[in-house]
This record gives sequence, C-alpha cells and structure tokens, in this order.
Amino acid sequence: ETVEWAAESYDMGGHDTYMHKEIAEQADAVDRVLRGRIDDRFATVHLGGLNLDARAARGVRRVKILGCGSAYHAGMIGAQLIEELARMPADAEPASEFRYRNPVVDPDTLYLAVSQSGETYDTLAAVQELKRKGARVLGVVNVVGSAIARETDGGVYVHAGPEVCVVSTKCFTNTAVALGLLALHLGRIRDLSVADGKRIIAGLRRLPAQITEVLRNEAAIEKLAADYASARSMLFVGRVRGYPVAREASLKLKEVSYIHAEAYPASELKHGPLALIEPAVPTVAIMPDDDLLDKNSATLEEIKARQGSILAVAHQEQQKADHTIVVPRNEPELDPILLGIPLQLLAYHTALSLGRDIDKPRNLAKSVTVE
Ligand code: G6P
Repeated sequence: ETVEWAAESYDMGGHDTYMHKEIAEQADAVDRVLRGRIDDRFATVHLGGLNLDARAARGVRRVKILGCGSAYHAGMIGAQLIEELARMPADAEPASEFRYRNPVVDPDTLYLAVSQSGETYDTLAAVQELKRKGARVLGVVNVVGSAIARETDGGVYVHAGPEVCVVSTKCFTNTAVALGLLALHLGRIRDLSVADGKRIIAGLRRLPAQITEVLRNEAAIEKLAADYASARSMLFVGRVRGYPVAREASLKLKEVSYIHAEAYPASELKHGPLALIEPAVPTVAIMPDDDLLDKNSATLEEIKARQGSILAVAHQEQQKADHTIVVPRNEPELDPILLGIPLQLLAYHTALSLGRDIDKPRNLAKSVTVE
C-alpha cells in the first residue's frame, strides 16, 4: 500500500494557517479513511494490511493501545470503541510509561501502536520492546513506510494526508475513525450482530457530512473564543465517552493558546478541582445525550453554584450552561469523534485572538524522535 501525496496537498489553499486548513479538511479525510474498506454484505470492514486472520483475531483476549500526545487520546477513544463493539477489555496508555515500567507482555493481548508520524521515539521504543518479548503489534499510522509502520506486524493506515501544523487535528479524527473500523472488524468476528454492524457502518458514513455541519458553526465559536482568551485556566470535563474528548480538547487549547487547561472525569471534580472554580476559570463540559446526561447536568449545577462559567458541547441546548455548542448526533459509540471537532476551532480562534504562532507553538515539535 503506497500513497503519494501531491505537492498541492502542502499548499495553504487560501487558509491563514495549516491548522485551519487541516481542520477544514476533515470531512474529506474521514471519507478517505473509509473508502474501499466497508463490506455491506457482511456488515463489516476489510483492512488489507492487518495481517491478522479471523482465527488469530478470535484468539485476542484484550487490546492495549500505545501512543503519545494526541495519538494517545485517539487511542483512548479507540479503546472504548473496542470494548463497546468487540466486548473485550481494552485500554490506552502513554507509550513512554508503558516502556519504562517493564510491562507484563501477554500472548493473548493485541498491541496497537498509534502514531501520526510513525517516528515518535517513545512509541517506536515500545514497539521494539514488545517485539523483543514476542508480542503481536499492529500500527495505526498516518505516514506510509514510516519506522513504526515498518517495525509492526501489520496495521491500519489512517490516510489523513500530510499534516503540517504541529498540533494534530485531522489526523486525530482519522485515527479515531481508523480505530473504529478495527473495533467493528473485531466485533463482527465475535458477537456484534449484523444489525449493530449495519448501524455502525451507517454512522461512519454519516460522519463526513456531520463534520461539515459542525464546521459551519465556526463564526459562533469564534465569538466564544474571544471570551475565553482572557481565561486564566480552563477545565474540561466529561464522563466515559466524553472524557477522552475532554482530554484532547484540553491538550489542543494549551498547545496553541498557552492557556493552562486541565481535563478531568466529571465525577472527579468534587475530589479536588472544584476548589479552582471561580469566574476566571471557565469549564467546558462534554455531555452527549447518553445515559450519563443527568449526571453531567448535575455537574453543571455544582459549577454554577460556585460562579463558574460553562460552555457545554452537547446534542441539545443546555439550560444550565452559559453557552452550548450543539453537535449533531451520530450513533452513541461514534459520538466522541464529532464532539471534539468544535473544540479544535475553539482552540484555534483563542490562539488567533492571542496572536500565537499557531502552526509552530513554542517548545513543541511535530514529531519527537528523541527520548
Ligand atoms: C508531538 C506532537 C503532538 C503529537 C505527538 C505524537 O508531541 O507535538 O501533536 O500528538 O508528538 O506524535 P505522533 O506522530 O506519534 O502521533
């Protein structure tokens, strides 16, 4: 599998930054990661480079996902998708932590190394350690032929196209979708029904148009960003499906705007961060319309009681929030993929209003090839 990126894919295409261009490209990017992979007849997907036959896939008892930065957060979404669709224990861990702790390597675990560049040293070192211990490791990588792609036993290419901005946007989204495809594949080899397989496929196919719909809200998000630019610090909270979205949104904001931001599982607020709530510390609450909506709504009350301002990202207007960004509903399992997209724009416009060097934030590099 080889893909040559044409020179014009590096052109700014009328955008002021690569970050803005790459956010805008996401509907097309998701279309690309899906293309040629969906099998409607069996309500599953074909992942050509996986090198994992059905028998071997059935032998997998758990999945461990490794990555750094945004790749790690995409891995958190992927782990939830694998648990939900394939009903196997799955979790994500920073690749560096994994490799430094002399991990127990289990023969029934499938390891996934997630990396946009395929060159991140910590992730590559985790792959090498796993290979040395005889584990099965697959890559979820954007750059074809990169070091991690070469050293893994197979994998799924993310097909996001070149990402130039240091902070990841379209590649993050496409990685989450690619992990969704893998989750569907593993699920359909096990107990996921045809009906559920079809439901997820229909949801995946709706994503590009829904991303376009989210991006149409840009003017409203730009206005909100002008308010948040003066925040001293921001909290991002969510429960279960909302939590990895909160993690990534918080990372994005601090990387490009240099505003301190922290993500917390919403239920943990009362175990510490509630002490920080005051008017200069706004909260962004990720609250999809799932069975945790009431709990999230109670969290908004706790924040309001302490004069904190709230931006909700939700499927419907939230009365208790100061502002709501309404995102279209997909299938519940796939909702995290859409919920984070408006917050990429929030980070971008906050950074723009503060005059930051958006494509090259200070102290950061696109791929960290050293320890
Ligand atoms: C750097 C970048 C992050 C990125 C991380 C992992 O820290 O600044 O944006 O998420 O590396 O990169 P990878 O290429 O492995 O996905």
